[in-house]
Amino acid sequence: MKKLISILIALSLLVACASCFAEGDNHILIAYFSHTGENYNVGVIEKGNTHIVADMIAEETGGDLFEIATVNPYPDTYEECTEVAMQEQRENARPELTAHVENMEQYDTVYLGYPIWWGELPMAVYTFLESYDFSGKTIVPFCTHEGSGLAGTVGSISSACPNANVLDGLAIQGAVAQNEQDKARAAVQDWLASQG
Ligand SMILES: Cc1cc2nc3c(=O)[nH]c(=O)nc-3n(C[C@H](O)[C@H](O)[C@H](O)COP(=O)(O)O)c2cc1C
Repeated sequence: MKKLISILIALSLLVACASCFAEGDNHILIAYFSHTGENYNVGVIEKGNTHIVADMIAEETGGDLFEIATVNPYPDTYEECTEVAMQEQRENARPELTAHVENMEQYDTVYLGYPIWWGELPMAVYTFLESYDFSGKTIVPFCTHEGSGLAGTVGSISSACPNANVLDGLAIQGAVAQNEQDKARAAVQDWLASQG
């Protein structure tokens, strides 16, 4: 009888452990929006500039990756994409996203990556920020750009998530992320190291 009870206890511990792993125990999320196709200064690209930086941060931190993608894809050509983005910004649009982070409560640090679009966050990033409660979480912004740097986006994120702790962001030129990846990786490593 004693033996049976020990086996049952061992089995239930095993099941509890397995479900623990199934839910995941990572507390770092890297959520990013990034556009492929034709882009400024880099020609036609298969992997977006911000996506490249997001992958580097995931490799360095071991965090989980999540792509912020819209149900309606953006045009492949640069000119058309800038027009759609401008229109969305004028309308203060909230484009619908393809996926939701079901287990957001498990993450306490969210690295948030995006390209600068017309000096601002792409509107899809607002949709993402308004889809969750970031109270008590740390948001660490990173962007790629072609001259604007982070522009006012750290402030935009703080306004959208007033109860989050929004840290200083990293800005990497898009063409550097795409074509000078050693340089981009060094910038990512220095930035992560500076956060302690
Ligand atoms: C719609 C649109 C608007 C842009 N607006 C700006 C801008 O205001 N300032 C800037 O520095 N770069 C701007 N860019 C360039 C992008 O920020 C840059 O190419 C970025 O690296 C693209 O990242 P991605 O490949 O991850 O989408 C713009 C690009 C697009 C497509």
